[in-house]
Amino acid sequence: ATLVSRRTAARRRWNRAVAVVRELEEGCATPTERLRRVANSLAIEMFAGLASEGASKVRMLLTCVDALPDGSEEGIYYAIDLGGTSFRVMKLELGSGSMVVNKKVEHQPIPEELTKGSSEDLFNMIAFALKNFIEREGGSAEGKALGFTFSFPVRQASISSGSLIRWTKEFSIEEAVGKDVAQCLNEALVRNGLNLQVTALVNNAVGTLAMGHYYDEDTVASVIIGAGTNASYIERSVAITKSRCLLTSELMVVNVEWGSFRPPQIPLTPYDICFNDGTHNHYDQAFEKMISGVYLGEIARLVLQRMAQESDVFGSSMNCLSTPFILSTPCLAAIRDDDSPDLRAVGRVLEQQLKIKDVPLKTRKLVMRVCDIITQRAARLAAAGIVAVLQKIGRDGTLCGTTEARKIRGEPKRSVVAIEGGLYQGYSIFREYLNEALDEILGDEIASTVTLRVMEEGSGIGAALLAASYLSTRQQHSP
Ligand code: GLC
Repeated sequence: ATLVSRRTAARRRWNRAVAVVRELEEGCATPTERLRRVANSLAIEMFAGLASEGASKVRMLLTCVDALPDGSEEGIYYAIDLGGTSFRVMKLELGSGSMVVNKKVEHQPIPEELTKGSSEDLFNMIAFALKNFIEREGGSAEGKALGFTFSFPVRQASISSGSLIRWTKEFSIEEAVGKDVAQCLNEALVRNGLNLQVTALVNNAVGTLAMGHYYDEDTVASVIIGAGTNASYIERSVAITKSRCLLTSELMVVNVEWGSFRPPQIPLTPYDICFNDGTHNHYDQAFEKMISGVYLGEIARLVLQRMAQESDVFGSSMNCLSTPFILSTPCLAAIRDDDSPDLRAVGRVLEQQLKIKDVPLKTRKLVMRVCDIITQRAARLAAAGIVAVLQKIGRDGTLCGTTEARKIRGEPKRSVVAIEGGLYQGYSIFREYLNEALDEILGDEIASTVTLRVMEEGSGIGAALLAASYLSTRQQHSP
């Protein structure tokens, strides 16, 4: 009888762990119809965001980019790319005809204390790194144009200046908020004895769009899926009613800042809400926290922690499940990507990252399911985001409708969406889920007119390209 009751108790505990996963699965469900409604809500927010400042959580920032590189740019340009997990310095040599003759990129990790310290320290580190890079390259900075990718929300005053609205992702240097970040960098460059200034200050989504357009004129939008997530696209100025003084031509690139979108159709699970416990930004950056690299691993950790509390699936030994951010998103991807029959990689991550040893196969399968659910929701929401942008510019097929409508408006046009970010580029299952959801939402015919094109290093290269095009416009206009 004791053996039977022990078995029953064990089964109950196991069932409780399974129940945690089932509940997660229900909470994270994203059937196609729901995704369509998410896309629709985001498109509506985008309309509102263009109408007036503060009308939507989605900021729809005007970027002052009113022309995109077209392949005619030539010369040597530098760029700095700040805002992801590492920071980059690069040199780009361009020849006409969309030809990158030479490219040199250096990655550097950003010490965590610099993301939370003083703005002077952060900008000094960047300027110093650029100085060393230029010296090592044997070049001279004299009079060169510099593109500065700064991947946070910025209120742009011109193509080469703008103030930080707020930090996102893991950065938080409070005294920098409200400052002109291009000026901060310019001052640091002077302090480091460098004679060059920021020519183009751009968001990473905008940089990626610029690079996309440099190679393919059908590029209409861009998406970032890395540490954070965002999109930008080409808007008609007539559709923008706010900040009209910034509008200089018929078109303007808009930085959507979709990370702050809160999709009303998607419930927050208990694991989502936990992120902001103890902070004043309770539901801030909801879209970003469900989709991007800083957060997915952490969602999984919180689920596993709950499973451990509800059952004994991870044994009773001390583990690291209560340490925030101990499970990175690359680890989540390694778990989901494991295709070995005995899920060896899952076991390895559990042992090495979380100090949980000898996890039986059926529990490893459950862990994989957790990572799959989180990945799938993220990728499918990102797809809904892309559809929202296409909808905003009339490229989602809804305008094509009937044969009559086609006669008037013509066949659907080809739309290229430039895409960048470690999560998308490094995680094949994420890509598959995203593409699958795009096909479902758009339907095969329209989906076949949409191409997602990866732009390797797009955010930085795009900034250099924009620096190139804006330097030449400035030179043409100077007396
Ligand atoms: C965050 C930033 C945004 C950036 C995105 C991707 O959402 O606010 O500006 O583009 O991360 O890095």
